[in-house]
Amino acid sequence: MDLERLKDTAQAMVSPGKGILAMDESAPTCQKRFDALGIPSTQEMRREYRTMLVTTAGLGEHIGGAILFDETLRDETLDGRSFVEILNEQGIVPGIKVDTGAKDLALRPGEKVTEGLDGLDRRLAEYREIGALFAKWRAVYVIGGNCPSSACYVANAHGLARYAALCQANDIVPIVEPEVLMDGSHSIDESFIVTQQAQQLVFEALASQGVNLEGIVLKPSMVISGSGGSDRAGIDEVAIQTLRCLRSTVPPAVPGIAFLSGGQSDEEATLHLNAINNLESNLPWAVTFSYGRALQAAAMKKWGGDSRNFGEAQKVVYHRARMNGLASLGKYQPGLEAI
Ligand code: 13P
Repeated sequence: MDLERLKDTAQAMVSPGKGILAMDESAPTCQKRFDALGIPSTQEMRREYRTMLVTTAGLGEHIGGAILFDETLRDETLDGRSFVEILNEQGIVPGIKVDTGAKDLALRPGEKVTEGLDGLDRRLAEYREIGALFAKWRAVYVIGGNCPSSACYVANAHGLARYAALCQANDIVPIVEPEVLMDGSHSIDESFIVTQQAQQLVFEALASQGVNLEGIVLKPSMVISGSGGSDRAGIDEVAIQTLRCLRSTVPPAVPGIAFLSGGQSDEEATLHLNAINNLESNLPWAVTFSYGRALQAAAMKKWGGDSRNFGEAQKVVYHRARMNGLASLGKYQPGLEAI
């Protein structure tokens, strides 16, 4: 393991004013997003859409890393150059989603465990050859009934830690993503308890597998009310509880925390990130974004499956990246939304 290299990569992914573009939807997830807009979900359309994203002029001003799906890492853009080459030219670190999905957890109805460890060492070595310098693995936790069970916490923490160790052994920075889902009507207090417990067990597991925290990026969900709840916590409360949780779980050795958006609206995700960065100066880690839907939704709609809309869609991509880049510095204002 080349720790200096891992540290450099992690720093580049979360350098000041930059975050991560999650564009690693698997083919079925991409189909779900395209179907909602009546766009045919073929490999050609996915290539066209993702070419639009990565060729956005100036994207590297606000994006430090882009997470790709296997198909895209191996693919070429519309003009026949590899996605990896375009990203490198933009100054964006290419990364790869390596888990094989959240599957039913045995004996625990309604709960999931993330799979993908078998053969991962070999896959990581190949991804490294192709040009990926970081990877992503997402574990999910559902709140409700008696969930999460301790079986769910332990199994997912173990998977994340084994994955992270394998990444570092291959000189790849692991993005460690424990996602507490927003689905449900839980309160922000319940979200706090589950998020804290999930993160604590993940850091214990990382330590027991010997993972060096200076060479990871944490991708957590925010502490937030369930999306179906009434009387949901406001922006400031989400920011306060999220930072309070991270303060209690994330050692200062971790270089960066990059949130997922998890179904928040575009502006809500930006407002929350901005509010967190305004709570305190001199946080021990960079606090930024690794948004999928909250960076892409508006641009995908604008593109609508028609390459004639590339220019307009790219304006939207750039705008959302810029808004979130400002939020990662605590310098966002809603008035900047008018484009
Ligand atoms: P969202 O921001 O849409 O939640 O996606 C981020 C991600 O990469 C989920 O794994």
